[in-house]
Amino acid sequence: DEDEKERESRSNREIISTLPTEKGWKIQGLMYQYQGFWYYSGGAVEGVMWMQKCFKARNEDVLLVSFPRCGTTWLKSLMFSIMNRNRYDFSADPLLTSSPHELVPFLEFYVEQNIPFPDLDTLSSPQLFHTHIAFTSLPQPVIDSQCRIVYICRNPKDVFVSIFCFLSRWNIVVPLEEAFELFCKGISVYGPFWDHVLGYWKASLASPQRILFMKYEDVKRDSLCQVKRLAEFMGSPFSSEEEGQGLIHEIMELCSFENLRNLKVNKTGAISVGNVSTGKDTFFRKGEVGDWKNHLTAEMADRIDRIMEEKLKGSGLTF
Ligand code: A3P
Repeated sequence: DEDEKERESRSNREIISTLPTEKGWKIQGLMYQYQGFWYYSGGAVEGVMWMQKCFKARNEDVLLVSFPRCGTTWLKSLMFSIMNRNRYDFSADPLLTSSPHELVPFLEFYVEQNIPFPDLDTLSSPQLFHTHIAFTSLPQPVIDSQCRIVYICRNPKDVFVSIFCFLSRWNIVVPLEEAFELFCKGISVYGPFWDHVLGYWKASLASPQRILFMKYEDVKRDSLCQVKRLAEFMGSPFSSEEEGQGLIHEIMELCSFENLRNLKVNKTGAISVGNVSTGKDTFFRKGEVGDWKNHLTAEMADRIDRIMEEKLKGSGLTF
């Protein structure tokens, strides 16, 4: 009830007031470190705490997890299309009239946006949800259930550039060199990047049937194979009949960068991301592999590469 919610909120805020903080990528405001990972604000941490308390995964549900700017929008649209392919005709596909971010809810942002948390008992199953939180911060019911987790990551140099360009749209970000220093120290939203990817990488090796580890570059290079892999993992592989009808190609085309970016619904209007509102077009920038070459010096690139090599040593994961 309300009293209990208020008590819980107060106790969460007390915990948040004791967390480590650092000056972050934004000109104003501090970043907060919670359970080893960095968040833009105390409010963002509060959202995570509520998610940890309220989210009850059901075995049939699928959770998309991503590090920010690693291809969330793309995966949301692909997974939504795979999951709902028998429900809609292509001409009436919800992706034509809604942003992928409106179709697949962002779990930790409910509290920040002051929207009631979805009552899972009232939702049909399976559902698709999305979060950015680290493996070790996942709500216990996610770990305990059989729900499947799809994780997407990307080359950290492109991730850094993509986050920086995203924030630059509002003129609220520190100079690139400063942001770069912070990224290399692990201070970036949901960072350290290497701890985030390693958490899901190791979990995917331990439980490959529950956690699918994907890379943006692989989906770019071999979309057909990766979309099939995704559908199989989600428990709804394409039949040879569907494949013969060209359904996989239709989905790939619908969810392609060019197609989604040019839809009116993704070009105009705004959407709430946490407590800020962002233009829907900000989720579509270049959509390329290797754009870092246009923004980072050779020394900077080398520095990230060396950090990754050291942090990922022995894990079998490379970028
Ligand atoms: P760039 O900034 O490098 O262009 P997220 O959705 O996780 O926020 O990631 C955003 C990144 O994915 C942006 O990268 C964006 O352009 C790219 N992106 C968005 N939709 C895409 C799609 N359908 N296909 C490929 N890349 C896409």
